[in-house]
Amino acid sequence: MPTAALWKAPPLWKGRGMEVGVVGGTGPAGRALGARLAAAGAAVVLGSRSAERGEQAAAELRGRWAGRGLEVSGGTNVEAAEAEIVVLATPHEGVAETAAGLEKPLAGKVVVSMVNGLQRVGGELEAVLPARGSFAATVQAVLPRSSVTAAFHHLPARRLGDLDRPLDSDVLVCADSSDSAKRTAELVETMPGLRAVWAGSLAAAGPVEALTAALVNVNMRYRSHVALRLEGLRLEGRGA
Ligand SMILES: NC(=O)c1ccc[n+]([C@@H]2O[C@H](COP(=O)([O-])OP(=O)(O)OC[C@H]3O[C@@H](n4cnc5c(N)ncnc54)[C@H](OP(=O)(O)O)[C@@H]3O)[C@@H](O)[C@H]2O)c1
Repeated sequence: MPTAALWKAPPLWKGRGMEVGVVGGTGPAGRALGARLAAAGAAVVLGSRSAERGEQAAAELRGRWAGRGLEVSGGTNVEAAEAEIVVLATPHEGVAETAAGLEKPLAGKVVVSMVNGLQRVGGELEAVLPARGSFAATVQAVLPRSSVTAAFHHLPARRLGDLDRPLDSDVLVCADSSDSAKRTAELVETMPGLRAVWAGSLAAAGPVEALTAALVNVNMRYRSHVALRLEGLRLEGRGA
C-alpha cells in the first residue's frame, strides 16, 4: 500500500532523487540499505569513522552492481550526516556517542535509527534494553535539534542488499510527529516492495528493536532470512 494512502500531502522528493547519508554505512546493514536505496534512484553517501573505509565500501558496491548505475559515494560519517535525510546504522554500543558527535550537521533533519540492541547469550540472541527504553530514544536525547525516527530493524541485510531479489515486506516506523513519520515512510517506500507502517511514537521503538532478537533467532534456527508482513492491515483513512 503506497504512502499516499496514509498521508495526503505530495511526496517531498517527487521528481528528483533524494540524498541519503548512512552513518556506519560500511557494515552489512548500511551497505545493503545504501545499495537498495541507490537502485531506487537515491544518491547515497556511505559514512565511516575512516573516509578511506567509506570510499572503499562505496567502490565495492558500485563494482558488485556495475551496470546498474548506482549513485553511491563514501566518506566520513560527517559527510554522510550532511545529506538531507540520514540513517544511523552503527552497532548499539557506539550509536549515542557517534550521534552526539554529529549533532551540528544533523540539526533540523529527520534521523532514522535502524539500530538494534542485540547480545549473544548461549546459542541465541537477546535484546539489550537501554535505560531510555530504546536506542532510538537514546539517540533523540543527544540530538535535541533533530527529529529521530526508527525503521528498518527487521530487514535482514542479506536480503535487503541482494538487488536481484525483489522485496516484499512491511517496515515498522516509529516517530513522534506525523511529518517525520511521513518523511521516513517516503524513504522506506522509495524502495519497491517495502510498505511503511506507522507503529507509534518513539515509545514504541523499544519493542520494535527488541523483536529483532526473536526474528534473528528464527533465522538461525530455520536457516532463513525472514522479513515482516502484517496480515489484515487496511491503511486507507487511517493515516496522520
Ligand atoms: N545486519 C543486519 O541484517 C541488520 C538488519 C537491520 C538492522 N541492523 C542494525 O543496524 C546496525 C548496523 O548493523 P551491521 O550489521 O551493519 O553492524 P556492524 O557491521 O557491526 O557495524 C556497522 C558499522 O558501524 C561502524 N562501527 C562499528 N563499531 C562502532 C562504534 N563503536 N561506534 C561507531 N561506529 C562503529 C563500523 O564502520 P567504520 O569502522 O567504517 O566506522 C561498522 O562497519 C546495528 O545496530 C544492527 O542491529 C542490522
